[in-house]
Amino acid sequence: MVKLKNVRKVYNKTTVIDEMDLEIDKGKFVVLIGPSGCGKTTTLKMINRLIEPTSGSIFIDGEEITKVNPVLLRRKIGYVIQQIGLFPNMTIAQNIEVVPRLLKWPSEKRKKRTRELLELVGMDPDEYINRYPSELSGGQQQRIGVLRALAVEPPLILMDEPFGALDPITRETLQDEVKKIQKKLNKTVVFVTHDMDEALKMADIIVIMKDGKIIQMDSPEELLANPANDFVAEFIGKHRLKTDTELQTVEDVMKPNVVTVLKSKGTAESISLMRQKNVDSLIVTDDNGRLEGVVTIDKIRELGKTGKDISGLVERGVPVVKTDAEAKTAFDMLITGRLGFVIAVDDEGRVKGIVTKTSMVKALADIVWKGNENG
Ligand SMILES: Nc1ncnc2c1ncn2[C@@H]1O[C@H](COP(=O)(O)OP(=O)(O)OP(=O)(O)O)[C@@H](O)[C@H]1O
Ligand SMILES: [Mg+2]
Repeated sequence: MVKLKNVRKVYNKTTVIDEMDLEIDKGKFVVLIGPSGCGKTTTLKMINRLIEPTSGSIFIDGEEITKVNPVLLRRKIGYVIQQIGLFPNMTIAQNIEVVPRLLKWPSEKRKKRTRELLELVGMDPDEYINRYPSELSGGQQQRIGVLRALAVEPPLILMDEPFGALDPITRETLQDEVKKIQKKLNKTVVFVTHDMDEALKMADIIVIMKDGKIIQMDSPEELLANPANDFVAEFIGKHRLKTDTELQTVEDVMKPNVVTVLKSKGTAESISLMRQKNVDSLIVTDDNGRLEGVVTIDKIRELGKTGKDISGLVERGVPVVKTDAEAKTAFDMLITGRLGFVIAVDDEGRVKGIVTKTSMVKALADIVWKGNENG
């Protein structure tokens, strides 16, 4: 589907992409990962011709891209840029329809497509099409960024750290959604991230880059089992946990930074906190930091009365686990549970963190990795 051959990019005598060869098969989810400045964004931008290589060639479906009309090229390629990049003065519908408009789709067809797309990510079209980006939560804006890239059904989608700024719950949900869409529509995705956990979860193939070069390109399993060199080992190793997996507790696998709100707070204040923290849900506590439940932006919008506190909107049946319980307990709850997270509390019931599927992948990675090291 995509092929880079001897691609170099030089800026003022500095080589930022060095003789890169890369082949990506149709329908694969390929993740580029590496330290800041290693050339991930540059690679994506060369694929859709926002940047021209200094030398070498890039092919899409066997055609050299410099020979393809750029409009036709962009029709084949969806692009989610490193910041969300919605146009603030355009409505959600207008944002999604940027490329369909460029391609002169008739208005009926555009409208139909926009509705389909919003439904794909569970956002009610009637409620959202006429809103502006500032009237959406961070997670919802991020979804629109993804939908915009999907609008004309391109076979190839480039995503540059699309979930960088999101909280764990929203990030987890969006990862699941994107993966599901990619499989369902059989798209080829090139996805950039800094986050090894995200790479391990999402990728069919992981491409580890450093200083403009590909260091290793393999499936997650292969990468964990046989890192090509010390750099790769260390890159994965940063994500290692305790040595003895038996003794891992919930505390070892949870993410400690969660956004909480007191149940006595008002609906308006909660929404503004969600905006500020880029989240779609908040963990609700009492005055002593003890868990009450979760409140979501949808619930507030649906049932919230201005001037009222959120206590009546709290969903209480959320899965809870003690921080000192075995990590496996939380994993079992995640696998069998309806929600993508489990909240970790101390003996007093105070909120300490959250366990997500990403935390689980992290722990599994460690087991594979350790297994290899112990021979
Ligand atoms: N227009 C430019 N002129 C000169 N140097 C540039 C230009 N754009 C990028 N670079 C350099 O090229 C290198 C690769 O940049 P690139 O944006 O591809 O990195 P990245 O891997 O995406 O990093 P990050 O993870 O921080 O987004 C960096 O050293 C950067 O400073
Ligand atoms: Mg970048």
